[in-house]
Amino acid sequence: MHKVFTAKYPSNIALVKYWGKYGNQLPRNASLSMTLCKAYTEVSLICIKKKNPEVEIEYFFEGSTEPVFYERILRYIKGQKEFEKLVRNYTLKISSKNSFPHSAGIASSASAFAAIAAVLLKASNTIRAGQFNKQASRLARLGSGSACRSFYGPFSLWGKLEGIKDSSDEYAIPVENVHKIFKSLMDAILIVDDSPKKVSSSKGHSLMKGHPYAAARFRDANKNCKEMLSVLRSGDFENFAFITEREALSLHAMMMTSREHYLLIRSGTVKVIEEILRYRKETGLPLCYTLDAGPNVHLLYPESIREQVHTFIQQDLYNDLKTVIYDRAGSGGTILKVNNGTA
Ligand code: PMV
Repeated sequence: MHKVFTAKYPSNIALVKYWGKYGNQLPRNASLSMTLCKAYTEVSLICIKKKNPEVEIEYFFEGSTEPVFYERILRYIKGQKEFEKLVRNYTLKISSKNSFPHSAGIASSASAFAAIAAVLLKASNTIRAGQFNKQASRLARLGSGSACRSFYGPFSLWGKLEGIKDSSDEYAIPVENVHKIFKSLMDAILIVDDSPKKVSSSKGHSLMKGHPYAAARFRDANKNCKEMLSVLRSGDFENFAFITEREALSLHAMMMTSREHYLLIRSGTVKVIEEILRYRKETGLPLCYTLDAGPNVHLLYPESIREQVHTFIQQDLYNDLKTVIYDRAGSGGTILKVNNGTA
């Protein structure tokens, strides 16, 4: 007997950044992200009944074995008590593929761990329906922190915030009552450099321990989360842009001022940001940028100005870019298929 589960979960881009952790993948400050739509990971899990006690887990990424990611996934699966019974009773064959190119500056570990946690939890069959997203978000967090935010859309909040009901360091929650201007927010991911990341996020998080600005940073991020929650409700794009851009630069400022300081932005990043600011000043259009832990620029704008923004990208930015990935706010992930017990 074998069971098959398929899931599709998107990546997300943080507007208020998670940078610094404690304990078992818990965040030092709250973060808030926009869930993407076209940038997703699709995972299929085949569970084949077995009798021997050995752990039998296979993993394929886009059809090939990927030893580094395999080791990470193996450690992850073996580490969660929720998956113990599944691992004991079944051989697990996991295949994963991304809708976006490798090294495109899109957080692939966020979509991958969201999808992997979701299929494994579904296969474990231990969770009541109403609790699924909460538990899957918590389990995804243990694989990659930001993955816990990919369960809800268009925005999700992760981290305990005073005065915000149900907010938790353990899992993310959906942001409610989002203004219509933000519900259909677009994200043009401007790829300045597609070479692999030079410093891992784990290293970056660890450098926040003992960072001279850490306490101020964590306070500022929590304040920005609260302000962002009210901006997302009111539809105030000017303040949305103000908080989002300051957050992007604060993240990179932390890297530049840590003990082992480093620089992930490139000259192309600065050039693209300056063009965006010039264009915004000239046209007065509501758009802004953010950065992930890398050199690529996410240009955010409402759907209503999509045509103008595409023209701007083609005419004024294209020469400085490797490529552009046009994405938009999405609604989170789904379990696509469950085939429970084919002989
Ligand atoms: O989820 P991790 O451990 O890869 O860390 C993600 C950190 C940032 O992407 C830089 C910010 C964030 O909140 O997503």
